[in-house]
Amino acid sequence: MAKWTASDLPDLTGRTAVVTGATSGIGLITARELARAGARVVLAVRDPDKGDRAVRDMPGNTEVRQLDVADLTSVRSFAQAWTGDIDILVNNAGIMEVPLAYTADGFESQAATNYFGPFALTNLLLPHVTDRVITVSSQLHRRGRVRLGDLNWRQRRYNPPAAYCDSKFDVTVFALELDRRLAASGSRVRSLLAHPGIASTNLTAHVGGGRAVLYKALGSILNDAEHGALPTLFAAVSDIPGGSYVGPDGFGGIKGFPAIGKTSRAAQDEDVAHALWDTTVQLTGTDAQLPAAPGTLHDR
Ligand SMILES: NC(=O)c1ccc[n+]([C@@H]2O[C@H](COP(=O)([O-])OP(=O)(O)OC[C@H]3O[C@@H](n4cnc5c(N)ncnc54)[C@H](OP(=O)(O)O)[C@@H]3O)[C@@H](O)[C@H]2O)c1
Repeated sequence: MAKWTASDLPDLTGRTAVVTGATSGIGLITARELARAGARVVLAVRDPDKGDRAVRDMPGNTEVRQLDVADLTSVRSFAQAWTGDIDILVNNAGIMEVPLAYTADGFESQAATNYFGPFALTNLLLPHVTDRVITVSSQLHRRGRVRLGDLNWRQRRYNPPAAYCDSKFDVTVFALELDRRLAASGSRVRSLLAHPGIASTNLTAHVGGGRAVLYKALGSILNDAEHGALPTLFAAVSDIPGGSYVGPDGFGGIKGFPAIGKTSRAAQDEDVAHALWDTTVQLTGTDAQLPAAPGTLHDR
């Protein structure tokens, strides 16, 4: 069977997509290809100058708006300023294995960028979303777990790789739980997951030592950003079940073309999801606004 590529994107004229972290790597390619297919694409970026440089070479209808997903004030401002429909929201922005730092909200920065920000942004924008939310996860979610009592590394010795894995686990649990809540409410909106396998981007800039060399070597023989973006693009336009986890079809899900895979079994634990959701609502002050009664919107 032919492999799915960006040239298989349907005509997206009339549709609006928001892509976070669209100045680099997978987000930049995602934004560019959605725009090429005709969508109006809003690049939600922490550095608007960088965003302006990114759109310079993009075709179609693009717009740059400031959004620091690691800052709840910025997330709230972005959401409050939004008017109109969002057909596709792509939670792509991410950081990996950065040194210990806390955000203005008191969150550890990987947790803030990779989990709390997407949680809050999605919840606040949800009333505008008409079709789907794509959350970019990682195969490394398999090594993470929910540490409810210490989501922000205040009590444990900070471990940058573990913090990345945990943040990707948490956001995977969130995306799956969001889809279950949407389905239960009768909403036709889907929450989907994508991951790029291993792609050569700026993500590993902070990774130190031998692993930096390893990532660089792996990146150069595995996916480039163009291929790393394909699972996100596939998830953005394909008629696949809510909760799907799309990633490369090759060995270990690290290289190849988009296919539906499986998250870790641990990420599907609904009790963990409920506990994490409740704690995160308290920490972010945001919750999903869902239709009041089942069946108020179209079937999925
Ligand atoms: N590359 C891989 O192999 C791989 C594997 C698994 C998962 N992923 C995931 O893929 C996603 C994209 O990563 P990438 O590989 O494309 O890395 P990248 O090249 O480093 O791009 C990351 C993007 O996120 C943006 N960003 C970071 N912090 C932000 C914040 N607080 N607010 C708004 N934007 C922010 C960056 O903005 P600046 O340009 O301003 O830095 C950049 O545009 C991430 O979620 C990552 O975890 C990547």
